[in-house]
Amino acid sequence: MAEIRLKNVSKRWKHFVAVEKLNLDIADREFLVLLGPSGCGKTTTMRMIAGLEDITEGEIWFGDKMVNKLEPKDRDISMVFQSYGLYPTMSVYENIRFPLRVRKVPDNLHHDKVMRAARMVELVDFLDRRPAALSGGQRQRVALGRAIVREPNVFLMDEPLSNLDAKLRVSTRAQIKHLQHELKTTTVYVTHDQIEAMTLAHRVVVMNKGIVQQLGTPSDIYDRPANIFVAGFIGSPAMNLVHGDIQDGVFNAENMRVAGLPLTVSGPVTLGFRAEDAAIGPETGEIAAGVYALELLGDASLIAMQVGGELVSIKAPKEFRADIGTPVRASVPAKICHLFDRTTGARIEERIVR
Ligand SMILES: Nc1ncnc2c1ncn2[C@@H]1O[C@H](COP(=O)(O)OP(=O)(O)OP(=O)(O)O)[C@@H](O)[C@H]1O
Ligand SMILES: [Mg+2]
Repeated sequence: MAEIRLKNVSKRWKHFVAVEKLNLDIADREFLVLLGPSGCGKTTTMRMIAGLEDITEGEIWFGDKMVNKLEPKDRDISMVFQSYGLYPTMSVYENIRFPLRVRKVPDNLHHDKVMRAARMVELVDFLDRRPAALSGGQRQRVALGRAIVREPNVFLMDEPLSNLDAKLRVSTRAQIKHLQHELKTTTVYVTHDQIEAMTLAHRVVVMNKGIVQQLGTPSDIYDRPANIFVAGFIGSPAMNLVHGDIQDGVFNAENMRVAGLPLTVSGPVTLGFRAEDAAIGPETGEIAAGVYALELLGDASLIAMQVGGELVSIKAPKEFRADIGTPVRASVPAKICHLFDRTTGARIEERIVR
C-alpha cells in the first residue's frame, strides 16, 4: 500500500514562497500529475515527497506513517529525472542493476530482476552498450528501467520526457502509461505539458505560483475549469477568454453578443469558450468579425478573429477557406460558454438559476 498524504505543506526560502499550504491525498496505485508553468513549485513538491528538500511547514504521510523526518533512502521511492543521470562508464545492464547493489539485494536475485525490467522497457538488445552509444529515448528507458528494477512503493517522475523529440515523446508517453498499468505503482509525475498531463493522469493537480488551482480528473479540468488560469492553461489551443459585460443574461463585448446565459449577475465578466465548441456560421452567429488569420491544422482549419480586444480561435472544417479580412459570423451559443468573475478569476456557477 502506498497512499501519500500532504497536509498543509509549505516551502519557503527566506521570504520567497515556493509552495503554499498544499493539501493532497494521493491514492494507492494512482497516477497523479502535477501540472503548471515553469517555477510554479512542481519540482519542489516532488523533492519534498522524496525527502530531498526539508519542508518548512506541514506534514507528509506515507500510509499511516509520518515521514517528515525520514531519510530519502528510507522512503521506498524511485525517482526519474529529466536528466537521465546514468553512469557513463557502466553498461546498460549495470546501470539498471545499480540500485539493487546499493540496496544490498542478494546477488543471486539480480539477473532475473534486471532482465525483467529490461524487457519491460524494451532494452534487452542493448544491455552491453554504454549510455553514450544510445539514443535519447533509449537512455530515458534505461533511467526508467533503473527505477522499475527496485520495485518501489512509489515512483516520482520529474519531466522525464522533456529531452525527447516530439515523436519519441509520444511513444515513450504511451510506454509509461502501459508500465504504470502493469506495475500498479503509485506514481507522481511532474510536467508543464498539459497534453502529457491529460493523457497520463488519473487525476491532475494544476498549480500556479505555489498554489493549487484545481485538482480533478482530466475531464473535470477540461470541461469545468475552476478559474481563468486553468481555462487558459489547459487545451490546445487554450480556452478563448473574452472580457465583456453581462446584463439580464446577455453578454456583450466588441464583435460579440451572447444571449440566454442563465445568470442573474450583471456587470463585468470574462466569458470562455473552446475553439472546437464554436462553429463558423450562421448569419445570426454570436460573433461578427473579420478573419484575422487562418491556420491549416490538417484535420481542421483554425480561424482567428479579434473579439473584445482579444484574439479568439474557432475550429472550422478542414476544407474551410477565407481570405484575411473577410467578414464572418461564428456561433457561440450560451450552452458552450463558461463564465468567470473578472476580479477573482473564479468560475461563476453558483448563481446559475435553473
Ligand atoms: N534552493 C532554492 N532557493 C531559492 N529559491 C528556490 C530554490 N529552489 C527553487 N527555488 C524557487 O522556487 C520556485 C519553484 O521552483 P521549482 O523548481 O519547484 O519549479 P518548477 O515548477 O519545477 O519549474 P520548472 O517547470 O521550470 O522545472 C522557483 O521560483 C524557484 O526559483
Ligand atoms: Mg521543475
